[in-house]
Amino acid sequence: MTKTINKGNVGFVTCSHPTNKRLQIVTLSKTTVNNFTEKISNFDVQSVEYKPFLRFFVANSLNQATKNSLGNYLLKTIKDRSNGAVLLECESTDDASLNGIDFIDFNILLSTAVSHLIGVPNLDSMSGKFYARFSVKNDDTSDSYLRQAHRRMELHNDGTYVKELTDWVIMHKMLEVNVEGGDSLLLHVDDWQDLDKFYQHPLAKENLQWGSPASKNIGYKTYHSIFLDEEVDGEPRMSFIDQFVEPLTMDQGIYLYEMGESLESESNTFNIKLLEGSMLIINNYIWLHGRDKFIAHKNLHRELLRQRGVFVENTGYDDNKNV
Ligand SMILES: [Fe+2]
Repeated sequence: MTKTINKGNVGFVTCSHPTNKRLQIVTLSKTTVNNFTEKISNFDVQSVEYKPFLRFFVANSLNQATKNSLGNYLLKTIKDRSNGAVLLECESTDDASLNGIDFIDFNILLSTAVSHLIGVPNLDSMSGKFYARFSVKNDDTSDSYLRQAHRRMELHNDGTYVKELTDWVIMHKMLEVNVEGGDSLLLHVDDWQDLDKFYQHPLAKENLQWGSPASKNIGYKTYHSIFLDEEVDGEPRMSFIDQFVEPLTMDQGIYLYEMGESLESESNTFNIKLLEGSMLIINNYIWLHGRDKFIAHKNLHRELLRQRGVFVENTGYDDNKNV
């Protein structure tokens, strides 16, 4: 793997992922982590939850530790359709680098910094906060596949059933015990070999109904098409998930069934193993994501942090007509 030292980037290195060149790996140097934690060691997670402006202070602290280059790099890469995804890791998170901050708290603060460098997170209705933490265990009785370990979570986009836009998603692995399998799955819309078949279909731009199970705490339905208005001609963006779209006609049902079958058999989907402390940041409308199933283990335990949000120009969007 060749690491790129870009003159403009200070305090981190980047390289393309060996399996998929679109995905950019960003490694924060030990010095960057140390300078970042030094500046924020006075804040606890609760204060950042209670005071929204502190989240921007935390983000600015990380950006300053990279001479203000990280924010520009992340935003440019996530918005660039040919990439649109970053795997962010730290060179070191040893005790000395964390300046007394607990590892889990550090991860929450780090992903807070990242989300506020690329925009603003949406309120997560499952947690009632700007981020959600959730566990995957071997036994689970939840009402969606999110926390169920024994099965594959199919490829999808996030935010299909909420009124806000969901420009990006951050998936951050904080802890993992007795885990085998459960890799993240990724597919860029342009790498989907059947894209044209579904994009040229008469139902591609028809509004469909979307709802969600009780655990999501969303009491309304939304209406939007699978393919969203293109930002640039001929460059489709998608908003699809098999569990929450509610077809109302036979044609819609069959179209969606065939779409799900096609996506699940797509050979260009690739697996990513996230190490503890690393996070995926993806452009939600041009990357589909999912999760492979786990190898059963009775003490399996994984803690994840998730944030979903918008680019700053899309804050305050609450229009059910287009998306
Ligand atoms: Fe998701």
